[in-house]
Order: sequence, then C-alpha cells, then structure tokens
Amino acid sequence: MKIISTENYQEMSIKAGLLLTEKIRSNPAITLGLATGSTPKGIYQFLIKDHQDNHTTYNQVKSVNLDEYIGLAPSNPNSYRYFMQHNLFEHLDIQGSNTYLPNGTVSDLEAECNRYEKLIEGIGGVDLQLLGIGQNGHIGFNEPGTSFNSRTHIITLAENTRLANSRFFNSIDEVPKQAITMGIATILKSTEIFLLASGEAKAEALARLINDGMSEDFPASALKLHENVTIIADKDALKYI
Ligand code: PGA
Repeated sequence: MKIISTENYQEMSIKAGLLLTEKIRSNPAITLGLATGSTPKGIYQFLIKDHQDNHTTYNQVKSVNLDEYIGLAPSNPNSYRYFMQHNLFEHLDIQGSNTYLPNGTVSDLEAECNRYEKLIEGIGGVDLQLLGIGQNGHIGFNEPGTSFNSRTHIITLAENTRLANSRFFNSIDEVPKQAITMGIATILKSTEIFLLASGEAKAEALARLINDGMSEDFPASALKLHENVTIIADKDALKYI
C-alpha cells in the first residue's frame, strides 16, 4: 500500500482531488466508487470548484456508492442519496441516471442487494473506489466480522458506528440499525482504491491497518489483498506510523 501523508484535512482533500480529476480527464467514462461521511466532503468541494473553474466534465462518468441506510428515503437528509445529491451530484454535469446507490426502502432487500451487485458488474465494475475507514476498521458498512468474500449485503450496524453517526441525527435512536453495503469482495474488485483518513480519531485504525496482519475482525485489513491501494491521510491520522 502506498501512503501519501499530508499536513491537514484541507491538503488531504486537495491531494486526493487532484489525483481524482487527473483520472477523470484521462478516462472521461470512468466509473467512480463513492463514499459518504465527513472525510470525502472536502474532496467533493474540490471536484465542484474544479468543475466550475476548469470545466472537467462528468457527462460520461458513472458513480456507484458504497452503501445506504435501510429505511431512509432519498428525500431524508440523512440518507446517503440525499448526501450525494447535495454535496456533489447537483453541482456537476453528471447524468442523474448514471449515479447509483442501493435503495434502502424497497420491500425485498435481498433482491435489492443482488440487483446492486449485478448492476456494478453490468457497468463493467469500479475503476476507482474512494473509501473512508471507521474507527473499528469498517470499510463501507462492512463491520468487524464481515467475510472477506462478501458481496453486496444487508448489515446490522455496530453500536459504535451508530454512535459515531448519531452526530448527524437528533438522537441515536433515530440512527438506522441496518444498511445495505457493497461487500468486501465487491470493494476488492475495483481496479484502484484510495483510502482517505483525517484526524487523530482514525490514528489507531490506520496503525492497525498498516502494521498488523489480516483479520476479519478488522475489515480494512482485507485491502492487503489488493494490489493498487493508496492511503491518503493527514499527519494526525498517521501519528502512530
Ligand atoms: P467519516 O466516516 O468519514 O464520517 O469519518 C468514515 C467511515 O465511517 O467509513
């Protein structure tokens, strides 16, 4: 795994944003795997500004997101569809029909998982996947214990994940208990992966990822099976490296 260390969150966002826009310009029909949460927000702001200033176009770009809460409609401000629309898609020239997320409101959730997995395969897979990392090592919503062979599936969120994400909700009781997430094997099929991390809260997880071996108790360690992973992290997140 290659490691790019930056001074702070802003520099991490710029560095990752520059690498990403280079990829998009050299492959205008790229399929991006996208993530939600606090970490990628600065990158999305970079992409929006670059689109305005330098006119990088997304009219042939496709995107597939890692995950979505079960039970939250796209109109719910805490749904990941809503996050992506407002933090990225509506500011770019990407075609709405080329932006994909799992649908967490359908009645047959198993069928939805299969549909999403096939959809990713059908569009030729992910060229470049953006990932954050949970303090417990989750990638997407693959919580500790998830099989490295998993494909898109329903996950029961770890209590520490619900607690971490409760900052976006009025109370922890409102945080959904389940989500649909790309599986670990789904993520590993992408051609290239950028893992992003910022701040001291992620330092122990990054140290474990970089220094320790592979274990299903620590989902991000599956990334050691992939040949093209770049960690882009600020020095607070890399403080134990
Ligand atoms: P964060 O989430 O970017 O909001 O820290 C990352 C994650 O939980 O995967």
